[in-house]
Amino acid sequence: MYSQNLPTYNPRRVAKIILLILAGGVVPAIVASCARQERPGDTRDRSSIKIGYFGDLSGPTFNFGQSAKNGAIMGADEINQGGGINGRKIDIVIEDDEGSPELAATVINKLTRQDKVIALIAGGASGSSLAAGPNAQSAKVPMISPSSTNPAVTQIGDYVFRACFIDPFQGEVMAKFSYNSLQARTAAIMLDFNSPYSRDLTEFFELSFTKLGGRVISKQSYTQGDSDFKGQLSSIGAARPDVIYLPGYYGDIAVIAKQARQLGITQPLLGGDGWDAPELWQLAGDSINGSYISNHYSAEDPSPAIQKFVKDYKLHWGNLTPDAHAALAYDAMRFLAEAIQRAGTTEGGKLRDALAQTRNFSGVTGIISMDSERNAVKSAVILKLQDGSYIYQETIKPEAAVSAAKASPSASPSPKKSRKK
Ligand code: PHE
Repeated sequence: MYSQNLPTYNPRRVAKIILLILAGGVVPAIVASCARQERPGDTRDRSSIKIGYFGDLSGPTFNFGQSAKNGAIMGADEINQGGGINGRKIDIVIEDDEGSPELAATVINKLTRQDKVIALIAGGASGSSLAAGPNAQSAKVPMISPSSTNPAVTQIGDYVFRACFIDPFQGEVMAKFSYNSLQARTAAIMLDFNSPYSRDLTEFFELSFTKLGGRVISKQSYTQGDSDFKGQLSSIGAARPDVIYLPGYYGDIAVIAKQARQLGITQPLLGGDGWDAPELWQLAGDSINGSYISNHYSAEDPSPAIQKFVKDYKLHWGNLTPDAHAALAYDAMRFLAEAIQRAGTTEGGKLRDALAQTRNFSGVTGIISMDSERNAVKSAVILKLQDGSYIYQETIKPEAAVSAAKASPSASPSPKKSRKK
């Protein structure tokens, strides 16, 4: 059991929420559908298709929101340059949730009720998607989270989808890698207890690691934004675990890694997709060298589709390397466009049905098929962090991880690399 902290009072945020509520509720939504006709007799709808995006563009995980925004815009730009969807251009309406779940729940109302978007590529961190998702569901506007991995996100309802794998798999992937590839037999975990993402990854890592024969010998917690982690780290250091699992977000991870090294803790630090941000390196320096993370894709993957995406993204965004957030939002935009095309309409219910029928969509983060729970069943990669780069280690497919977790410790197969660099 973990206690929940109340959100801190922030006058700027409260003022923004009030303004958004007024804008969404009081200002009448006069959105003229400007069906321009090319020539007399041509009744085809040429109006733009409005798609909403919101994410953390200025808060504690702003790298996530900025990357996902870039990925979604690039996906839409490519579709528009190719003639749009059935001749209609995509118009993205963007909002900043500042990394606050309560603000996410407000901006989604503005996007659905005032801007009248027909779908959303939104919800970066699981906490924001969990807070905003019920409003997409009640407005009957399909929402695709590019990157929220917490299982409860798509359980909100049948209008909520995601472009990524879920945390039971992600936790299992790292447990398997620790046990089999790093030969770890004991682990410590330090989690952000206010984050559903961090709590569930802890649970799933522990479950799988224990099943494999490992032991979690120390468990500590913190809250996002804390600055002193030395007490928890001293306890972890004294327990002498083989590895330390830190299922959190990059801003906190940087401080934790630095303090761990200052305390003389040299064990490998392990994390998940919440570490994948260029800012991690600026904040953490070489204290994260030798760490490993599970992630959605690797920009170093030699596959031609990934290398083409990386090259195009760098051209589009001034030489930035696309992280997993960017790649997932790009994929989400493209399979949404494909579903709109297939549905032949932007009407919520029909679009929802078309999204649910997505099968074998070839994305840069893998082949995307929606399961009955609206989750994308996909492989994960393990990356090693060294001197500013993420070095590709191996790919773990969903079935492989499941069977590894089921195997008894003595019968564990030696690590197999399904794809080498
Ligand atoms: N999976 C994380 C969450 O659910 C967010 C995340 C996705 C972070 C992708 C980085 C990259 O909160």
